Amino acid sequence: MTVRRVSDRVYCLSYDDKDLDLFESLWPLPLGVSYNSYVIFGDEKIILLDTVSQRFSERFIEDLKGLVDLKSINFLVSHHLEHDHSGSITAFLREAVNCKILCSPFAVNLHKVFFNLSEGIVTAVNDGMSMDIGGDILTFYLTPWLHWPDTMMSFLNFEGVLFSCDAFGSFGALNGKLFDDEIDLEIYLDEAKRYFSNIVAGYREHVIKAVEKLSSLGLNFKIIAPSHGPIYKFNPRLIVDKYVSWSKPEFEVKVVMIYGSMYGYTRILVEAICGGIESTGVKVALFDASRVNVSFILKEVLDAPVLVFGTPTYDANVFPNILNVLNFIEVKKLGVGRYASIFGCYGWGPSAYPILMGKLKNMGFNVVEPFLTVRGLPSSYDLDNAKKFGVKMGELALKFKK
Ligand SMILES: Cc1cc2nc3c(=O)[nH]c(=O)nc-3n(C[C@H](O)[C@H](O)[C@H](O)COP(=O)(O)O)c2cc1C
Ligand SMILES: [Fe+2]
Ligand SMILES: [Fe+2]
Repeated sequence: MTVRRVSDRVYCLSYDDKDLDLFESLWPLPLGVSYNSYVIFGDEKIILLDTVSQRFSERFIEDLKGLVDLKSINFLVSHHLEHDHSGSITAFLREAVNCKILCSPFAVNLHKVFFNLSEGIVTAVNDGMSMDIGGDILTFYLTPWLHWPDTMMSFLNFEGVLFSCDAFGSFGALNGKLFDDEIDLEIYLDEAKRYFSNIVAGYREHVIKAVEKLSSLGLNFKIIAPSHGPIYKFNPRLIVDKYVSWSKPEFEVKVVMIYGSMYGYTRILVEAICGGIESTGVKVALFDASRVNVSFILKEVLDAPVLVFGTPTYDANVFPNILNVLNFIEVKKLGVGRYASIFGCYGWGPSAYPILMGKLKNMGFNVVEPFLTVRGLPSSYDLDNAKKFGVKMGELALKFKK
């Protein structure tokens, strides 16, 4: 837990969750995650920006009381109703009896359906609406689909603080640190990329829209204050530029190879194909779909121009763990604009391959033929072909060299 001053008028209450095994019951958290809430002290109004996960409700309320009399808080701004931010609303309102809620028009109804809060207490703000808080002005911007339809951001004009909620956030607990110049940025940018690919990637066009919108308004943001991960005060542009580059996306020259192999036959092809790819000078990100959580695979897929899928035929279908990865790539819309090809070993019928091809095409991949499919144990002739297949994949990735 950290309660720290961010700027003259702003405090952050940040909670490290190191015990949650899976974020959204999906994404592993080897380095934990933080939930950040903010308090703004205007000369006339005191405002709380989001709460934190219910897992920290009690401590959050206690810490908040240490900072401010809850009865003197005028508004809670709910940027986004997902429970990692809204989970302490009920506990908070029990004591903050004079507080009204401000949110996007879409979120008004979500307060009702999730927390049974009536429109009497919840008021919608319009895009660009400003509130004089005394000594500074807080402006609200609707930024839908980052990453729910309800999402909005707030901007504290004179202090230049953008409260961006999930956007510009990252996985990784903060361990008592808070700002970008106090942490090992490389670790958090890596976790930000994984967070982006897992949570935000499916809505990346909306990241571009939001950044264009905020840029066109000429907002001079000096501090980016997200709801997860570090606050960017030393270099606020950095995380915005990263999010934009992941959204476009800007491809790296690399091949991502994802395979499943029950008894090691397809795995024999993997080795030979990797050799071929690496002989072109292109690096390979290699994943055994049965042993690496898809969260980490998506992070590499995000900026990969070429993907290669290896599967045996399994019950006349694609290997189930490859199907699982495909499902995630589809949900996160990470097929479009990328090349994909297929390899693998089968026993008596190559039924997996047309099924996999159909799925890849449906997901928007440019599917590269011919595939490399082998019946039974690969021969030295097959291994030679596998190497050539790898060279072809490497050369394809090289086309993305800038
Ligand atoms: C549970 C199971 C189901 C299989 N189903 C099929 C199948 O439907 N069609 C087929 O051609 N081979 C099937 N096979 C055979 C495998 O595709 C073949 O042994 C292949 O070489 C396995 O490659 P791997 O060692 O990389 O998993 C199956 C094998 C197993 C163990
Ligand atoms: Fe969210
Ligand atoms: Fe969140």
